[in-house]
Amino acid sequence: MNLRTCLQHAAADLTHAQVETPAQTARWLWRYATGAQTHEMLMAMGNEVASDDLSAFVRLVQRRCAREPLQYITQEADFCGLTFYVDDRVLIPRPETELAVHTTLAQIRRQKRADKRSVHIVDVGTGSGAIAIAVAVALDKEGDRTTAITGVDISAAALEVAEKNAQRHGVTERVRFTQGNYLQDYDAGRLGSIDIVVSNPPYIPEGQRERLQPEVARFEPPQALFAGADGLDAYRAIIRQAASRIAADGSLIFEVGADQADAVCDLLGALGGRPRVSVLVDERGMERVVAAELGWR
Ligand SMILES: C[S@@+](CC[C@H](N)C(=O)[O-])C[C@H]1O[C@@H](n2cnc3c(N)ncnc32)[C@H](O)[C@@H]1O
Repeated sequence: MNLRTCLQHAAADLTHAQVETPAQTARWLWRYATGAQTHEMLMAMGNEVASDDLSAFVRLVQRRCAREPLQYITQEADFCGLTFYVDDRVLIPRPETELAVHTTLAQIRRQKRADKRSVHIVDVGTGSGAIAIAVAVALDKEGDRTTAITGVDISAAALEVAEKNAQRHGVTERVRFTQGNYLQDYDAGRLGSIDIVVSNPPYIPEGQRERLQPEVARFEPPQALFAGADGLDAYRAIIRQAASRIAADGSLIFEVGADQADAVCDLLGALGGRPRVSVLVDERGMERVVAAELGWR
């Protein structure tokens, strides 16, 4: 079989499995399986395919037909201009979560302008470490040497991935990872109060399980997705636990799901300290991040 026919068969299988952009995916998987550059693939369209290449390609096509996300197949996901290692122990970092990173960096600058010497950030539900590590890399570039970051996750398996990513991006000295049930195990007496809590927690209501794309429902860790009947359980827990652990002038930054911003703003009201709460909109016009600055009079 020549390469053109081979790609056509793969595209037909991918179409049947309802994978988006099947022809493009087939070409992409071929290049990934064989290491060929685009021009090499195009020039080889009429050539017979080698059996080793064919079997490697077919295995990948089968995985994608089962709706395994491309990022798990390649074990890489781009986030904030960095390439993260991912596998099915962690949620694949999403582009919309970059807004939580930018908001965190803005809050660090605000707190530093207010003469705070060192800032301690906790990324709650760190998963692959995407938020914590992207913030750390940006701080390194800015020459900030004092801000410290802790990533917390309940999943020991996810934390192994986060550690690997911290090594990959050279931030093991600034970011430390610890296992815990949100902030429950954070001992503010020993570690000091937290200046910034940032979190992209699980926020999908249980009832929406059936409506998810197969890529998400079949492959991403359920613990990273679901948070009770209304999807707000994680926000409730983190805000309750943060109350006694956050600095009087601290900030909380949450990524929120569709139509959750108002409810999360209400939950933040329970913190006291007259928080100044804002809702930030992502590039698609969705309310995506809720940020609360404490200590406003
Ligand atoms: C939506 S994922 C976010 C991952 C990563 N921060 C990101 O933005 O890509 C939520 C994460 O919260 C973690 N998680 C779920 N329940 C938790 C709990 N009770 N305590 C700490 N982490 C939890 C999951 O293991 C998962 O890694």
